Amino acid sequence: MEVREALLTRRSVRAFDPDKKIPREALERMVEAARYAPSGMNRQLWHFAVVQSPALIRKLAAAVRQALGRDEGYDFYAPNALILVSNDPDNPHGVEDNACALQNIFLMAHADGIGSVWINQFKGICDLPEVRALLNEAGVPEGHQVTGAAALGYPAKPAEPKEKKEDVVSWVL
Ligand SMILES: Cc1cc2nc3c(=O)[nH]c(=O)nc-3n(C[C@H](O)[C@H](O)[C@H](O)COP(=O)(O)O)c2cc1C
Repeated sequence: MEVREALLTRRSVRAFDPDKKIPREALERMVEAARYAPSGMNRQLWHFAVVQSPALIRKLAAAVRQALGRDEGYDFYAPNALILVSNDPDNPHGVEDNACALQNIFLMAHADGIGSVWINQFKGICDLPEVRALLNEAGVPEGHQVTGAAALGYPAKPAEPKEKKEDVVSWVL
């Protein structure tokens, strides 16, 4: 898929086919895309924890629900895989670096026909003991903060088209 087509056709997907597993090679392409994102001063202090264990994804969702008081149904949209994108809390560029990496993950996934959506719920709760214990299980480095995660899976239905604002650009030529 050509870059412009990928950019213009990617949409957040929030319903995943429960019977289709993402192959290992596709997940590897996503983390490769993430590793090649730009990072402030090229420090690459990020970490990408790929979780495809349904049990751990369920436990992470339960811990997030408990920490944030979310209702029983909240499960990150029951993805087939979750990539937790974390960074050193002392890195002043960590949030921006991770956002670049997440967008690369979304676009690579989309090019392979895999749907994705940003999961923002880990911010501010990573150091709660019950959450940290699960992040350890996922392989997130000690002390790292998860600034966002990608929920991933084959779309159960076409993603909703989104209107994109046009009056957000100015030009001086
Ligand atoms: C910083 C950020 C946080 C987001 N957090 C969530 C989230 O927690 N849950 C969710 O369903 N979507 C989340 N989204 C996805 C946005 O809702 C989505 O990108 C937006 O509605 C535009 O739709 P599109 O991605 O289909 O273009 C987030 C997106 C960004 C950039």
